[in-house]
Amino acid sequence: PPLSRILSLWDIEDVARKVLSYKAWAYYSSAADEELTHRENIRAFSRIFFHARVMRPVSYCDPSTTILGFKSSIPVFVSGAALARLGHPLGEANITRGAGRTGIIQMVSSNASLSYAQIAEARLAPDQPLFFQLYKRRDDALAEQRVREVVSLGYSAIFLTVDAVVPGNRERDIRAPFELEAQEREAEKVERADQADSPEAPVQDKEEKGETNLLGTAGALIANADLDMTWERTVPWLRSLTKLPIVIKGIQCVEDAVLAAEAGVDGILISNHGGRQLEYSLPSIDVLYRLRKQRPDVFNKLEVYVDGGARRGTDVLKALCLGAKAVGMGRPFLYAQSAYGEDGVVKVVEILQREIVTGMRLLGASRVQDLVPDMVEQVNWQPL
Ligand code: FNR
Repeated sequence: PPLSRILSLWDIEDVARKVLSYKAWAYYSSAADEELTHRENIRAFSRIFFHARVMRPVSYCDPSTTILGFKSSIPVFVSGAALARLGHPLGEANITRGAGRTGIIQMVSSNASLSYAQIAEARLAPDQPLFFQLYKRRDDALAEQRVREVVSLGYSAIFLTVDAVVPGNRERDIRAPFELEAQEREAEKVERADQADSPEAPVQDKEEKGETNLLGTAGALIANADLDMTWERTVPWLRSLTKLPIVIKGIQCVEDAVLAAEAGVDGILISNHGGRQLEYSLPSIDVLYRLRKQRPDVFNKLEVYVDGGARRGTDVLKALCLGAKAVGMGRPFLYAQSAYGEDGVVKVVEILQREIVTGMRLLGASRVQDLVPDMVEQVNWQPL
């Protein structure tokens, strides 16, 4: 269907399911075990209802905010997700250009399918911010080299992913035969020549030897991870490499949010990796709800973000009421660029912007600061 007939992020997901290869759909959409945390990430938003305020002036309504001091047209950013070229030949560059056109910020995955330099070059202007998602490998020197590379390319923040020390068990992904299109593989060889520890390399080597890949795409990408990261060692180590803001991605409970604040990082991203890592990890929005209730002080010490299952403007508004500065989305942007390239990414932002402004007006909020905890309530009954 033409983009003009796309009304919601769910419509885009339906199109993506039809156009993606079996393997790409399996990789993008899958999650761990029974995929329960992924489904509950989405459903948990439906257990939160609003207390709307009326008789408040809302003709002026501004959904913009800042993330780590960088302006964002809506309180939404692109959470780094690997291998955008599985869905579209221009891959991550579609997201970069779409984000540039709409004024939102893209977090680039460590396992992007274009080089970090190519993505930086795809920016519409040199001051378009890009965040970098770091998977720390066992070898400190590799991570150091990678951080220095993205710093020199002008990336603006480091999101250290801590919820993926080993790959989650994603059975739909593992079952799908590992097949990067031949053309894709050729292109990767050229483009990744400058990315020394190409995460694809081990998979390709294995395949050439005819070994069965028991881990699926995900397993191959998370190879050689540092399983021994700690607050005491890893955060100061990263801080010694760069002055850029540091955000810990993959906080899944209140206690770790508190430890992150004590460690002095600039932000946390409450996330369970879109349900792809620990099955039965709590839905992200529920972790945010508990943090707000139990430790409201944390929100004064660092910026709090959340991702996982947000698909509507109202989902974003619920998170903001609970104190989140912004909400990340992973799959919706992968699906959008797969189905419609750069224009699909723009469409996602336009839909969210419209839904957020409508929701703010109906809630009685004209600026994001007007969204407060009193405006939401968690219910323990299931809507019909
Ligand atoms: C991811 N995610 C992810 N996270 C990360 O830190 N590094 C990565 O390389 C990837 N790769 C990746 C690939 C795919 C296909 C998906 C779906 C996800 C997790 C991602 O950053 C984010 O946390 C989730 O996608 C958020 O959940 P939703 O919005 O997809 O429901």
